[in-house]
Amino acid sequence: MSTVETRWGSGANAEAIAAWDGPLYDRFVRFREIVTTGLGAHGEAALELVPPRTGQRVLDVGCGFGDTTQRIAELVGPTGEAMGVDAAARFIETARAEAAEAGVANARFEVADVQTTSFDERFDLAFSRMGTMFFANPVPAMRNVRQALVPGGRLVMVVWRRRIDNEWLYRAQEIVEGIVPRPDEYEEPTCGPGPFSMADADTTSAILLGAGFADVSLRRCDIPIVIGRDLDEAVDLVMAMGPAGEILRLAGDRAAHLHGQVDAALREGLAEFAGPDGVRAPASTWIVTAVAAG
Ligand SMILES: C[S@@+](CC[C@H](N)C(=O)[O-])C[C@H]1O[C@@H](n2cnc3c(N)ncnc32)[C@H](O)[C@@H]1O
Repeated sequence: MSTVETRWGSGANAEAIAAWDGPLYDRFVRFREIVTTGLGAHGEAALELVPPRTGQRVLDVGCGFGDTTQRIAELVGPTGEAMGVDAAARFIETARAEAAEAGVANARFEVADVQTTSFDERFDLAFSRMGTMFFANPVPAMRNVRQALVPGGRLVMVVWRRRIDNEWLYRAQEIVEGIVPRPDEYEEPTCGPGPFSMADADTTSAILLGAGFADVSLRRCDIPIVIGRDLDEAVDLVMAMGPAGEILRLAGDRAAHLHGQVDAALREGLAEFAGPDGVRAPASTWIVTAVAAG
């Protein structure tokens, strides 16, 4: 266990966990439909590349609301099992309640900081949709995931590719950075290394090899996503979440007077993606696969 002490509590990820269990949970609830539908196609592509098989035991890392955990539970069937883990207790509470309400008997959920948890159980497959980019130290975190797998067990995870191929996120970040000065000190907890921390193929493969995985491969997945039913919603989304939302959240009230200017600039910056079916932007992820060396 890490002994790092922070003003958010103890543990290397204490600050990120405070963010995920606090303001980021609230924002994910607000924009849940857009985020989970948008990411849904990328997650499904990962499940097609490495399909969970009947009877398998699958770990879902950073499971959030657990919609992917429920989906995996369906794919492995009643003789298999899916376990969703997330460091934020509020996500896990919601995931448990929703799986119970949906009558999914073979999905379980546990609160766990994957970086500091060594799992007692063994799984055939570890899956993650955007849940592995926020560890303070990714190598020990991914080593815990590897140790949770049977020898020869597989990893499949979806992570964002580079910023310039996710133009809507990057453009929003640049626009906000051009208007809102980044504060030297934050009152709010930050989310950890951030959505693009595994965008570089060499960095990510080095992390996985360092964690004891073999046969690492990264497959590019380009599927556009709808980021709002209209421009109003798309602007609200990027002001609340992602790199641009993070800058605004950390600046807090100090940037409140700039919100009108930010809103107008984002509206102009995202306008080209708006169409009759909503605001639809190119989105690019890596589907990373690896095998737990025996
Ligand atoms: C971008 S969200 C993705 C959630 C979900 N997988 C999805 O696709 O909707 C990232 C998730 O990783 C979780 N997370 C962040 N750091 C974590 C850690 N150290 N251990 C476990 N989960 C973590 C967050 O609480 C959050 O639910």
